[in-house]
Amino acid sequence: MKFHFAFFAFVFSSILNVQSYATLREDSIFDGCARIHNKFVTKKSNNFSYEDVKDCYERIPFDSLIASKTIESLTRLLDGFYPLLNKAKEPPQSGFSFKSRDILTELNLLKEKSFQNLYDFIINVKHFFYDMKEPHTLFISDCFSTFAFFTNITLYSVVKDDGEQIIKVFDDTIDSSNIDCEVTHINGRQAFEVIFEFAQDSVYTSRDIGVRFNTALDHNHSGYSFSVRAELPETPSIVYTLKCCKHTRSFNVTRNWVAFSNPKLLERFNNSRTYFTNICNATKENKHMSYSNGIRDTRISSNNIHRIMTKQAEGLTIIKIIDDFMEFYKIKDFGVVRILTVHYPKMYDENDKFNSAFFANIIQGFKDLRNTGVKKANNLGGYVLISAFISLLLFPDTYPSFEFDFRITEPMKLAITEQFRLATPGNVFDMSDYADAITHINFTSANDIFGNNSFTRGNITEHYSKKSRFK
Ligand SMILES: *[C@@H]1O[C@H](CO)[C@@H](O)[C@H](O)[C@H]1NC(C)=O
Ligand SMILES: *[C@@H]1O[C@H](CO)[C@@H](O)[C@H](O)[C@H]1NC(C)=O
Ligand SMILES: *[C@@H]1O[C@H](CO)[C@@H](O)[C@H](O)[C@H]1NC(C)=O
Ligand SMILES: *[C@@H]1O[C@H](CO)[C@@H](O)[C@H](O)[C@H]1NC(C)=O
Ligand SMILES: *[C@@H]1O[C@H](CO)[C@@H](O)[C@H](O)[C@H]1NC(C)=O
Ligand SMILES: *[C@@H]1O[C@H](CO)[C@@H](O)[C@H](O)[C@H]1NC(C)=O
Ligand SMILES: *[C@@H]1O[C@H](CO)[C@@H](O)[C@H](O)[C@H]1NC(C)=O
Ligand SMILES: *[C@@H]1O[C@H](CO)[C@@H](O)[C@H](O)[C@H]1NC(C)=O
Ligand SMILES: *[C@@H]1O[C@H](CO)[C@@H](O)[C@H](O)[C@H]1NC(C)=O
Repeated sequence: MKFHFAFFAFVFSSILNVQSYATLREDSIFDGCARIHNKFVTKKSNNFSYEDVKDCYERIPFDSLIASKTIESLTRLLDGFYPLLNKAKEPPQSGFSFKSRDILTELNLLKEKSFQNLYDFIINVKHFFYDMKEPHTLFISDCFSTFAFFTNITLYSVVKDDGEQIIKVFDDTIDSSNIDCEVTHINGRQAFEVIFEFAQDSVYTSRDIGVRFNTALDHNHSGYSFSVRAELPETPSIVYTLKCCKHTRSFNVTRNWVAFSNPKLLERFNNSRTYFTNICNATKENKHMSYSNGIRDTRISSNNIHRIMTKQAEGLTIIKIIDDFMEFYKIKDFGVVRILTVHYPKMYDENDKFNSAFFANIIQGFKDLRNTGVKKANNLGGYVLISAFISLLLFPDTYPSFEFDFRITEPMKLAITEQFRLATPGNVFDMSDYADAITHINFTSANDIFGNNSFTRGNITEHYSKKSRFK
């Protein structure tokens, strides 16, 4: 199966072998990690208190050697291989919001800072990259991804007839009578503002604040929504002020954040020392999948979506549903296309060839909706081909594949030259899916790709590759 992810897709994770380690504070065998272990073993529980997780994470001391090695590794990696290193210094184009970064200089400043514990350090480095709002450029640590947090309430947003956008309860597995009530305030502040601010500061998946707002309410991608967190929330509980009906009074629902994890992770530690050894500093052999899936069942079924769409709009007609992928509706005079994913392996048949019936089906859906408006699609990543295909259908006069280039550094030269020689399948430096953007001719050698371009970006003039394009 082919993954047409962009060449510069770049996710790195902290697996560092550090030689020495300061001693852990073992004032009590009943540290947070130990309490979690006890509850897991004695009660067979998979949910834990906020306080225990906070204590478990924060008990691991800051280690300046781990910090300096982390920063050093990141600096070398990015300096040698990051195609957008200079570009990252440039301010946001209009319509986008993110932090410009002089990555190498600012990372070095982090080296000078002091941190309360290892968690504080890792979170700072993680947010350093999050703030660039470039989801291919992330720093994720296995050490503090063991738990996910949930209050058993999920939210959604609608625009009222008078144009005001409000927040409502999508689901509440503890008290279903709260479903569809308006959330007027969260922790005493206007709910819409709180969600907007969360989208602005904490969601990293897009440079477009509108997309980030949608993501903040998209608990199906657990880990970066307002309701389902992968990071320790700021406070142990959250107060939702609900108004269920025009004629009834508002009331407060206070919920504690509950931490979830999965047994495969939970059985690896019995106190903070073993937590560090077996989770934070796991060897290659016993490294676990880096993402916690403790709350997979917070994911929502399409039925819940249908419930809301039917409720919100009288006269909703289902035009066409392509299972797990795309749905076409008509609401009054509007055509609505829900693209559930652009990561859809069924677009290939068993011989790894395009499934033409699949593409014909999409075209048919759009034909059925012809002459109606189509709302914005929200792309969280996936097969570039699907996005390109849909863009072409909607905007036939455009060429949806952007041309690109990348920094040609010495390490990059070496890697691409070696890959040309070895032709290792699936290698990230494999250029065989790309062609010269101008002549459309296949690249025949490493030098052919390197070309002789110099560009100034972020005020730095460097050697960049020939302009390239997906074949
Ligand atoms: C991490 O593990 C490696 C070997 O697995 C060990 O050599 C190193 O001392 C450990 N680091 C710390 C900080 O404990
Ligand atoms: C946590 O797990 C216990 C069972 O161990 C269960 O009774 C309780 O409802 C769970 N709490 C939440 C908030 O899911
Ligand atoms: C709900 O709690 C907030 C503080 O979180 C408080 O300001 C507000 O007055 C409370 N509202 C009600 C209806 O109790
Ligand atoms: C905790 O786990 C370590 C190994 O991971 C084991 O050696 C030790 O006996 C365990 N301690 C308890 C009290 O279970
Ligand atoms: C809260 O949500 C979790 C995750 O979806 C679920 O396992 C649990 O049963 C829920 N708890 C209650 C009390 O509904
Ligand atoms: C949410 O995710 C689950 C699991 O990936 C999927 O089965 C379900 O259809 C998704 N729901 C929606 C509404 O996208
Ligand atoms: C360019 O590469 C594609 C496959 O990636 C191949 O089908 C095509 O024949 C090549 N063109 C030339 C002129 O070699
Ligand atoms: C590369 O371009 C520069 C001018 O931009 C030119 O002076 C130089 O000769 C070129 N080198 C090669 C190998 O084409
Ligand atoms: C580039 O340099 C100019 C003047 O030296 C400065 O005004 C500008 O802010 C710099 N731009 C960036 C992206 O650093």
